Formats: sequence, structure tokens, C-alpha cells
Amino acid sequence: MPALVLLGAQWGDEGKGKATDLLGGSVDYVVRYQGGNNAGHTVVVGDQKYALHLLPSGILSPGCTPVIGNGVVVDPSVLLSELSGLDERGVDTSKLLISGNAHLITPYHTTLDKVSERFLGKRKIGTTGRGIGPAYADKINRVGIRVQDLFDESILRQKVEAALDNKNQVLAKLYNRRAIAADQVVEELLGYADPLSGYVADTTLLLNNAIDQGQVVLFEGGQGTLLDVDHGTYPFVTSSNPTAGGACTGTGVGPTKINRVIGILKAYTTRVGAGPFPTELLDDDGEQLRTIGGERGVTTGRDRRCGWFDAVIARYATRVNGLTDFFLTKLDVLTGWERIPVCVAYEIDGKRVEELPYSQTDFHHAKPIYETLPGWSEDITRAKTFDELPKNAQKYVQALEEMSGAPISAIGVGPGRDETIQINSFL
Ligand code: GDP
Ligand code: IMO
Ligand code: MG
Repeated sequence: MPALVLLGAQWGDEGKGKATDLLGGSVDYVVRYQGGNNAGHTVVVGDQKYALHLLPSGILSPGCTPVIGNGVVVDPSVLLSELSGLDERGVDTSKLLISGNAHLITPYHTTLDKVSERFLGKRKIGTTGRGIGPAYADKINRVGIRVQDLFDESILRQKVEAALDNKNQVLAKLYNRRAIAADQVVEELLGYADPLSGYVADTTLLLNNAIDQGQVVLFEGGQGTLLDVDHGTYPFVTSSNPTAGGACTGTGVGPTKINRVIGILKAYTTRVGAGPFPTELLDDDGEQLRTIGGERGVTTGRDRRCGWFDAVIARYATRVNGLTDFFLTKLDVLTGWERIPVCVAYEIDGKRVEELPYSQTDFHHAKPIYETLPGWSEDITRAKTFDELPKNAQKYVQALEEMSGAPISAIGVGPGRDETIQINSFL
């Protein structure tokens, strides 16, 4: 099993960090392929808790080489502070590799992210304010700065000046902000060249060679399927492709080399930021899911919006990612509800709809049609096998599997590495 993708099947925060960390001990490389430090992955190892934003979660597994692929946008100041934070805690970060083709998030991207959100007012996306959208916009607009540019001062200066010529007009004339001096940006960026130089590599060559030699490569997605700029709830999305195809473009590894695609699926649904969310609960149940599930953002500290499980979304994730497996997380959070509603289809303008509508207007009008399943009250956090789960918890998992279109191969019953029921091996 040389290459597998692990990605979010909903709107992010499904527990990808924990799942990646769980596999980290058995794989040779863990590769981030998109996004940046908008991600927030909490990993619990024994009594230690780590919050990772930009680094692949495999960095916590000693035998594993963490890689930041070309599809990621890298804020060098965040990268260095995350590395030094881990160094201080005794984590070996020396194996990290960064693609020279990855784009940089510069201070003007972060500024533009924040001011453009403010400018949108009530229509804002609710971004993380980390400069993600503006950095990807520059990449597509061919005025981005790449990691490799840090090592050629003259090219770096030309590129920063070219980018700022336009951006300073926007900042000053549209947003009434002070212009940003190119010299200052260049000086800051040049300061990252030395500390980062040892990490930069031709990651595409290296990963293809590794797969050809039978080594195991895990591609770790940030965000989730419905935050995908092509397949998500546009425009309330992030600016990259967390879906499975992103693993190919974001690393330079072809689809024929990927054998397995695992969707991380929360046993209920959460979302951070603005945008439609058919099963959102604005009542006590929603508050209870938030409290019991600890649903507060790792990156921005915002409360996550919470709702019941949505099988329409899970089916959609199976389809657009070609999922081979699900890893169902946070089943333990549902313990204690007498009955648990699950959304099986939508009602849109009086009609029953089984699949996610492609039209934004229809999705905004979608009302969940629920089936209610019996709950359980027994503590499940110590269960190690499927048979040890209470009958109703087993039935809940089986019902979700039938509705979602791919086998549930693992179940999370707590945040720790060992709080997992493995049904089918991923490797
Ligand atoms: P990610 O962004 O997909 O990596 O997910 P986050 O780390 O943002 O959010 C998931 C949260 O749920 C983290 O605090 C995890 O420690 C926690 N978590 C992961 N799996 C489980 C599980 O099975 N049960 C419980 N109770 N918590 C979990
Ligand atoms: P992980 O990897 C949940 C959301 C933001 C906002 C939208 C766009 O932890 O699952 P951006 O800053 O990316 O331009 O914001 O996307 N968002 C996330 N929501 N989990 C994440 O990452 C997210 N990364 C971005 O809240 O709605
Ligand atoms: Mg998260």
C-alpha cells in the first residue's frame, strides 16, 4: 500500500490530525498538499497535546519524514515559530522537507485578507485571516512569491516590487490603508532564507522515488471536502483543493500511484465561518454537542457551529473523492442522547432530494429530512473492538456506513491515539 490520502469529508475539523498521527508510526512520509496555517490539528499523544497548523501531523512520529508539498502556502514566520515550539518540547523536526515550489504568504497577504473581509461586512466569508486567499490568488495570477525565491535576492526584489505596485494601489485607494514598503518586505523575507535553506528539496522527485521503491506515503489534507474551492459550498470555502485530486496537483504525484483515499468523518457535523449548513442546530442540542465535543477552533478560537450528521454530505464526499474508506470520529461525543437524528435527504422547494444539489440557491434552501436512531448511554471510550460497543452504537455506525457509500474502517472513541477501534487495516 504505497500511497494513501487522508482528508476531511465535511467542513474540516473532523479529526484529521489524530488520524494522521495514528498512522504516522507505520508510514515513511506524511505530506501536506494544500492549505496553510488556516488548518488547526490537535493531536494528543499520551498526556501531551499538540496544536499543529502548518506542519504535517506526521512530524510527531519519529520514523516519519514530514513534507510540505508545492500546493501548500507557507507563512515562513509561522513555520519557524511552529518548528521552534516543537523543538522546545523535544520533538525532532530536522527531517522536515519543503517544496521549493510552494508559495509564500507574505505580510501583505495577511493584511489584504483582513481588510477585504472587513470590507465585505455582513457578506464576509469568515476566513481565518491568515492570508490564505490572497496568497493563492497571487499564485493563480502569476505574481506569487515561492520558497525558492528566498534564495535569489534580485528575483525576490523584482517579484515583491511587481506585486506591491498593484497591491499598494488597492490598499491605499480602495481600503484607505498605508502602502507597504517593498524594501521592508524583502528584508523580512531574506531573513528566512538561512533558517529555511536546509529544509528545501525537490519533493516531487523524492516522493515519486519513494513510492516506486515501495515506501509508504500518506497525503494529509487540510480543511475538508465542502471547503474545497471547486467542490465545496462556494463562495464559503477556502482557496485550495482539499479533495483527493489536490493531493496530485499539490505534490506532483500522479493519480495512478494512489491506492487508497480515506475520508475522516465526524459522527455529527461542524462548521466554522459563514455559509449554508442544513443540519445546523441553534438549540440546546447544538450547545451540548459544542460543549461535549469541545468544538472550538484550534486556529482562531471561534466556536464551531454544530449540527446532526448529514448523510447527503457524506455520500457526496465519497463521490468527489473516490473514497475507499471512512474513519468515523468522535462517536463518544454522542453518548447520552436518547435518540439521534440523522439527515438522510433534503427537502428543497417541496421536493425530496437525495444528492447534494450543485446549485448554490438550492443548497441554501435545503431543509434536512431526518431519520431518528436510538441512542446509548454506556461509556464507549474504552471500547477496543466493534463488538464492545453498545448495540445501539453499533447500529448507528452501520446505518451511517450504509448511507455514506464506503466502509467505515475505523472509529474514534476519544482524542488519544489508542482511543480508536480499527475494523479494517489502512495499510
Ligand atoms: P482536524 O482539523 O481535522 O485535525 O481536527 P481538529 O483537531 O481541529 O478537531 C478535532 C478535535 O477532536 C481535536 O480536539 C481532537 O483531539 C479531537 N478528537 C479527534 N478524534 C476524536 C474522537 O474520536 N473522540 C473525541 N472525543 N475527540 C476526538
Ligand atoms: P482544518 O484543517 C475548519 C474555513 C474558515 C472560513 C473558510 C475560509 O483544521 O480542518 P480561509 O482562512 O481558509 O480563507 O477561510 O474556511 N476554514 C476552516 N474551517 N477547519 C479548517 O482547517 C479550516 N480552514 C479554513 O473558517 O470559513
Ligand atoms: Mg482543525
